[in-house]
Amino acid sequence: MNKELSPSGFVADPAFSAHDSIFIAEEDVLDFCYKMFGVTADASKLKYIINLGLLPVYRSEKQNLILKSDVASLLDSICIPERTTANNLRYDKLFEQDAIRINSGTIIDLSHQESVRVPTFFSAARNLISAHKLLKNPSNETKYNISYFPGSRLTTLSERVVKYVNSQLVREKNVDMDTTSQFARSAYYMGSKRLLCGFLIEAISSALPESGVVVDLMCGSGVDSGAFSKMWKTFSSDAQQFCTTLAVVHGGGFNRTAAQDLISRLMPITQQHFNALQLPLAGALEKEDNLFCHDINDFLLEEYMNFLKNCPTLSNNVSTAHWKPRTEVMLRRKNHSIYPYCLFTAYFANIYFGLRQCVEIDSLRFSIDQLQDENEKNWALGALIATVSALGTTYGGHFAQPLVRNYNDITLKKLSTIIDKRSFSITHEFAVRLLNLSEQSQNSLRQVEIVPGPWENALRTLDEKLENKTVLVYVDAPYKREEYSRYYHVLETLVSYTYPSRTGIGLTPKPGERFRSEFFSKTESKISDTLIRVITNILQRGWICAWSYSNSGKARIHEVIRSVYQKIHCDIRSYSVPHVHKSQGGAKPKKITEYLIIFSTKE
Ligand SMILES: C[S@@+](CC[C@H](N)C(=O)[O-])C[C@H]1O[C@@H](n2cnc3c(N)ncnc32)[C@H](O)[C@@H]1O
Repeated sequence: MNKELSPSGFVADPAFSAHDSIFIAEEDVLDFCYKMFGVTADASKLKYIINLGLLPVYRSEKQNLILKSDVASLLDSICIPERTTANNLRYDKLFEQDAIRINSGTIIDLSHQESVRVPTFFSAARNLISAHKLLKNPSNETKYNISYFPGSRLTTLSERVVKYVNSQLVREKNVDMDTTSQFARSAYYMGSKRLLCGFLIEAISSALPESGVVVDLMCGSGVDSGAFSKMWKTFSSDAQQFCTTLAVVHGGGFNRTAAQDLISRLMPITQQHFNALQLPLAGALEKEDNLFCHDINDFLLEEYMNFLKNCPTLSNNVSTAHWKPRTEVMLRRKNHSIYPYCLFTAYFANIYFGLRQCVEIDSLRFSIDQLQDENEKNWALGALIATVSALGTTYGGHFAQPLVRNYNDITLKKLSTIIDKRSFSITHEFAVRLLNLSEQSQNSLRQVEIVPGPWENALRTLDEKLENKTVLVYVDAPYKREEYSRYYHVLETLVSYTYPSRTGIGLTPKPGERFRSEFFSKTESKISDTLIRVITNILQRGWICAWSYSNSGKARIHEVIRSVYQKIHCDIRSYSVPHVHKSQGGAKPKKITEYLIIFSTKE
């Protein structure tokens, strides 16, 4: 066991050459440990850390594969301890149930195997096992017994282990995702990483110093960017503009006083615009107001259906003497900034929002466009995106389909949901969200910086900016053939505000008018090839890549890892954590394994 440890505690292993396989089959691990390191590993301990999820396993068609480098860095937790030193902790195997003996001086005890529910435990315990050699105290009589992550305790003879563990717990507390991300809470589709932020940060902290920089290359809801920015300088990118705007409002750089001042300047302009846009729609708005004051019953249902059918919107193809949606939209397709703004009112009224709500959205969007300061613009737009996302009447939490496909099919139950949501004032909700987000921002020192996507473009832009920096690029690409630009078109349209074409039941812009991701493919090899291209592009720059993926994804993780390694000889370590994936449209939540694979080029 004479392998050299890197500062983070990971084994730098010169014995794995570029020609060796980097994986080993699960059944060959014991043999491998003996041949490679001259140690006897314990089959039951190996099984235990595999079942727990500490040692990542990749399932191929024929066998379970494990990275040799992962075995090497977790070796001590699967070996039978030597009975030599005087101050060893518990020897007796009877006491070893639900315990991970890291070495003779440190043990993690779990209440039972299922008791660990905090995702951060999985990367933290793995890091502790890998790093323990650096944390040995020369000699110590004191025994420390402290709480580790919920469901676990740590007993150690090393004061340095206690310090290391305390810094892990402080990092976990700083991330504090309970208060984070109003968008992530309202949009299940993205932001599923909200609960995994601590896990990610702990894993990344083994590879990136505090002075390093994180690039969140496909930032989605921006929730991970926000968490990273609490630890490191963070740049965020995505193919969709609304995602990078959301990343900004998850970071630092704003405060409640600035938000109050911003709201006080936005409101008079919003009000003035509201007055102008409501004039030609006064009759319909009054009707909607009256309907929303009624009890829910069959009479209201019939009245509301009539209102929906006769309201002057593009979808209805209805005009009034004062408001001709088609003409207004045609004019604005040529010149997006014609006053008053009316995109949401014409397109989405009674589809995803109420009529009054749409007039409010257009009015706020106009007032945001009048801001000169880019940072203020991003914060206001971010709060509006979060509001629109939360208050949309959608099917399954995204905008591929409205809640109601056909006005004649509304039930009393649906009517109640619709009226509930459409009675909210967008302006009020916007102000509340802006204040909350800015208050959270005060806890974060660093502003998130935007880099326009798609990913290749972002990497090129960052080349110059990040020269001489230690950079880690976090890649959380789509797992499946999911068309993000279709699911979130309303939010992207809110940002671009370009009066796009509309197709289908969801009023989605035509494919040519929205971003088409190379991950939107039925072919597994195409998705894998793209992932390999993204990861190798990052490594070629001398940057570290942290690739997040799950066993529910389309690509075969071990094949991607193998191909990257064949192209670029690099150190690879991986982390896994059990997770529950909540899918769309009421499907049952699914138990999955999330992985984070960290590739770094050899120095
Ligand atoms: C799985 S989501 C990211 C989720 C995010 N980590 C979160 O917690 O919300 C994948 C993201 O990749 C983006 N994306 C897809 N293709 C892309 C490309 N070619 N370049 C940049 N971003 C892309 C999508 O817009 C989407 O936001």
